[in-house]
Amino acid sequence: MMLLERQTQLQQLETLLGDAIGGHGRVAVLAGEAGAGKTAIVEAFAARVGESAAMLRSACEDLSIPDPLGPLYDLAREAQWALPRAIDARHGQRLPLFSDALDAFAAKGPSLLVIEDLHWADDATLDFVRFLGRRIANTHILLLLTARTDRSEGQMRVRRALGEIPAGSVARIDVPLLSQAAVLSLADAAGRDGD
Ligand SMILES: Nc1ncnc2c1ncn2[C@@H]1O[C@H](COP(=O)(O)OP(=O)(O)O)[C@@H](O)[C@H]1O
Ligand SMILES: [Mg+2]
Repeated sequence: MMLLERQTQLQQLETLLGDAIGGHGRVAVLAGEAGAGKTAIVEAFAARVGESAAMLRSACEDLSIPDPLGPLYDLAREAQWALPRAIDARHGQRLPLFSDALDAFAAKGPSLLVIEDLHWADDATLDFVRFLGRRIANTHILLLLTARTDRSEGQMRVRRALGEIPAGSVARIDVPLLSQAAVLSLADAAGRDGD
């Protein structure tokens, strides 16, 4: 797919991944409205990462009562880490579990961890993001998050969680709506009326 008007965002992500590969882990937050193109940027960036970093992907779901730690289960599966057994061994204790998770992901070497749609995250997932964010500077991990800016309740919870991560570790990358010219050219390419 042709990605329009996203050179800046992709370049910022490249720089942050470079930092992470160099041992200065970072959190990147793609922030924008629903449909602005956050996922499209994740896809385009994932295609560029190639062999330079391991990639683990996950997403939060729009459930009335989200499963606790759903994204961590996804990430663990991709890392081939036995999370359910780790949880049993930890008797439901979160901090030792998060610490094990950090070890398991760090063992992958330079890596890109993706958690999409953080505005739908359960509290435990936000706790994990906070935990990882506060320790990420000493890892080779780029934690790439996407979050909507148009759902006030979810947005508040995300902002609160990210607010507890050292400012130097977090980069917010805005994803504005495409320009009128870009929309017109997409419509044209699809044989539709841009107006
Ligand atoms: N920069 C872009 N250029 C062209 N098409 C885009 C671009 N960004 C998004 N799209 C298209 O717009 C739609 C919505 O994008 P998506 O990434 O799913 O939004 P979000 O994840 O922010 O809700 C998708 O069909 C996607 O292919
Ligand atoms: Mg999306």
